[in-house]
Amino acid sequence: MPQHTFTVNGRKVTVDAADDVRLLWVLRDLLGITGPKYGCGINVCKACTSHINGKAFNPCSVPVSAIKPGDEITTIEGLADPATGELHPMQEAWLEHDVAQCGYCQPGQIMAAIAKVKKARAEGREIGDADFDEIRNICRCGTYSRIREAIKTGAGKM
Ligand code: FES
Ligand code: FES
Repeated sequence: MPQHTFTVNGRKVTVDAADDVRLLWVLRDLLGITGPKYGCGINVCKACTSHINGKAFNPCSVPVSAIKPGDEITTIEGLADPATGELHPMQEAWLEHDVAQCGYCQPGQIMAAIAKVKKARAEGREIGDADFDEIRNICRCGTYSRIREAIKTGAGKM
């Protein structure tokens, strides 16, 4: 079985997995990192949204063989400060606005939100309505309006 090495949530890992196994299953089933959720497996629902090298991506549609040894994957589990356990400002904002209903989509929503704020800042601007409209993460519970309010609050503290 081929071996694949990369960093996830600050920890270097090596896993044995066939080249075509999607990263989401490596994270969830081999590494026990279950924050990224399985919804569709075809890069549509965005429930699995995580970060690769600081950018949002969907590990359900990326074979583990595409991940390079220098790649850094971050999931919702990797957001809190490892030294203090303090939550990321976007997580705090989610709590403040009581966003979640069933919660299933929420890790992906938070990861998408953080990536959007960082992308806007890298472009020298703040996140706005056009950015919100681009977030494609599906929420079956319809928490969209609270998500937008929480992103504004979280962005203000990032
Ligand atoms: S499970 Fe990854 S986008 Fe739906
Ligand atoms: S909170 Fe239930 S799917 Fe989004």
